[in-house]
Amino acid sequence: MHKHPLSYNQIDAQGLHEVLLKYQHRNHEELVHDFEKAASSHLLNNPVVGVSSGTAALHLALATLNIGPGDLVAVPTFSYVASVNPVLYTGAKPVWIDSEETTWNLCPELLSQALKKFNTRSKRIKAIIVVHNYGVPANMKEIMKLAKLYRVPVIEDAAEAWGATVNGKPCGTVGDIGGVFSFNNNKTVTAFGGGLLVTTNSKWEKRARFLASQARLPKSFYLFNEVGFNYRISPLIAAYGLLQMQQTSILVSQRQEIFSSYCEAFKSHPSISWAKTLPGDMASRWLSAFRFSSPLNPQKLLQKLEKEGLEVRRGWNPLHTMKHLKAFPAIKSKNSEHLFKEVICLPSGTGAHLCIDTIKELI
Ligand SMILES: Cc1ncc(COP(=O)(O)O)c(C=O)c1O
Repeated sequence: MHKHPLSYNQIDAQGLHEVLLKYQHRNHEELVHDFEKAASSHLLNNPVVGVSSGTAALHLALATLNIGPGDLVAVPTFSYVASVNPVLYTGAKPVWIDSEETTWNLCPELLSQALKKFNTRSKRIKAIIVVHNYGVPANMKEIMKLAKLYRVPVIEDAAEAWGATVNGKPCGTVGDIGGVFSFNNNKTVTAFGGGLLVTTNSKWEKRARFLASQARLPKSFYLFNEVGFNYRISPLIAAYGLLQMQQTSILVSQRQEIFSSYCEAFKSHPSISWAKTLPGDMASRWLSAFRFSSPLNPQKLLQKLEKEGLEVRRGWNPLHTMKHLKAFPAIKSKNSEHLFKEVICLPSGTGAHLCIDTIKELI
């Protein structure tokens, strides 16, 4: 392991043990139920479905919205590949949308161009996936306005944004279906796996829950009449998730504090910037991502940081440049490619504060 990992979460063995003892003699489903209840209480009590990963949650969201072969889905190119893989699982095709300068997320102006362009009977954008990169909320106000205008449902890929808010509302509850979360081991709130689909109505919740359980009809014998998935969350993952839900505010504050300490350390460098939140929004700063612009040399800095034992990552490599993804239509600016060249994600989890001075000296 690196001396300073990118996003480390220590295992709370004692805490997990206590949760498991409490549920030892109860039905396993109670753990899942209580995890979902706890998660929902952080999400305006919206209906939720606990699933096996963030990727599964996104696939389920698309399936619930009936996205299928040949459909077009707007997807930000500046994101992790898991934002698009589920689109491809359904047989739909992404339309790449580049980033805006402010939040680094999906650019509303480019989205507007895409919605205008792909609005014919045969080629219509059927859903919009919005990502809140590194826990910084996207411009949901403008995106939701456009989505309403063109009557296209929005799925928030809030995998990285547990604890972030848009105009006071938790990320994941602003989109139409709502959104999806990941609790994999590097996330702010982790269950060492698992994910969540948050919906805005119980009809979608029921449909998603049904599809996630192999589309099994509620009979005393086995009966199926369509293809389903095995996406339900494991009770053991739910147990850790339940434990972490209780610590949400501490875990989110820790990430935000690390980010603020970096900002403080970099304040005299005019060439270092970061993704900004829009008025009224709050970022969770899952990863402390900074942009190192000229005359700084981000690639040299990256090498120096790695030499010191720091686990660092460049900003997302734009998805529209990947060999198997470049043939899909794209509405581009140069922003995502510039972000890829200049952004470095710095250690952001437990112990990250120990390397801030080292980084400051190396810049
Ligand atoms: C933006 C984004 N979407 C989706 C996912 C997928 O989540 P998971 O790893 O739980 O499948 C991730 C996670 O790493 C992510 O960062």
